[in-house]
Amino acid sequence: MLMAETTNKNFSYLQMDDNYVNPVLQRSARIVAQQAKGSYIYDMNGDKYLDFTTGIAVNNVGHCHPKVVEAVKRQVEQLMHTSVVTHHQRYIELAKKLSEIAPGQLESVFLANSGAEAVEGAVKMARYVTGRPAIINFRGSFHGRTVMAMALTTSKLYYREKYEPLPSSIFTVPYPYVYRSNFANDPDECVNDCLKHFDILFNQFVHPSQVASIIVEPVQGEGGYIVPPPNFLKKVQQIAHKHGILLIVDEVQTGFGRTGKMFATEHFGVEPDIMLMAKGIAGGMPLAAFISRKELTSKWPPGRHGSTFGGNPVSCAAALATIEVLQAEKLPQRAAKLGQEMLDYLIKAAKGKEHIGEVRGLGMMIAIDFNDGHGNPSKDWAEKVANRCFDNKLLVLTCGSHGQAIRLIPPLNLSDAEANEGLRILEKCLSA
Ligand SMILES: Cc1ncc(COP(=O)(O)O)c(C=O)c1O
Repeated sequence: MLMAETTNKNFSYLQMDDNYVNPVLQRSARIVAQQAKGSYIYDMNGDKYLDFTTGIAVNNVGHCHPKVVEAVKRQVEQLMHTSVVTHHQRYIELAKKLSEIAPGQLESVFLANSGAEAVEGAVKMARYVTGRPAIINFRGSFHGRTVMAMALTTSKLYYREKYEPLPSSIFTVPYPYVYRSNFANDPDECVNDCLKHFDILFNQFVHPSQVASIIVEPVQGEGGYIVPPPNFLKKVQQIAHKHGILLIVDEVQTGFGRTGKMFATEHFGVEPDIMLMAKGIAGGMPLAAFISRKELTSKWPPGRHGSTFGGNPVSCAAALATIEVLQAEKLPQRAAKLGQEMLDYLIKAAKGKEHIGEVRGLGMMIAIDFNDGHGNPSKDWAEKVANRCFDNKLLVLTCGSHGQAIRLIPPLNLSDAEANEGLRILEKCLSA
């Protein structure tokens, strides 16, 4: 920050942060958020930032939505915690609600605190109920920071480096990142080429009868906001079914309206065996879930998994209110319509700019992918544009295996005026 220290109220807090917070916790914007409302975050100076990050796809209903705030306040006064000592109403109501909005026969719910915890629980369950050890993941995937979730994460070396030994029996196949593949003009061939790697795996690395699950993001998040061709997920499901392998779909970032449907799997006509949710589930409160069929969860005996805080009543109350808002305000539909308009605008704005390789997205999950002068992924450009946006009071994040993309993850109830404000800033920063 260039602002004079004396006039910058953030400064003393940032100094304290530097002194007391473990430096491993990296933040993207060097401001201290004091409050937030709707699509805006306000720092300690009262400066206002348009938020196209939503705390990494969490505040789908905007910051501090009044209905979520009200539900939290009500719950805090009534019951805050009992853990697994008792049943409680909000857990049961939320389990019922999630089973109603999840695809198909997914109706048995376990609640956790974070996406990574949902990944851990789902992998434990898949191994237990199949009696098989191996897991297949995709190149470029992100599943979290705990040990198993990290071992399943291949979006960047930096998430894994120096944390070996990692859990074994994990086998990785390519994800159809069409734009940077050898089949940039032939999405079907790109999918076929990726899926050939299953044959290689099953022939040379692991027998399919030893594979408990395939874990996949329906749209890759941290890996670069990569939307796979429409037939990809279905083909993965066919491979899974053929070999009795459970399909775990990680909807942690894509869920709760983000891609223009309540869950991204709905775009692809696939019903997972286990589906993971977190982030947008509770409007900003920490909560996660994995949901499966009863036929599977009935094979996982009571007590084989658990959590002290998972399914906390306050987070559950927030989730119930959040889902109600998503449905009442038709926010998945809003994400589909406004997301497409924003995408169209940006595709036009990118025309003639050689440093922009591709603009892509699904709903309100949009990426701008940058190139250097030779068609290679350019982290420098992505960071330059993200920094310019910050200087213009628009918050955006980068993503991609090389940090080559910026991702736009606004609240789903972003107004037209706010969308225009953000797009104008972006256009200016892309052009400069
Ligand atoms: C697809 C996906 N899975 C899992 C996770 C991990 O979630 P958490 O950070 O809540 O542990 C993330 C986080 O970004 C994610 O994007």
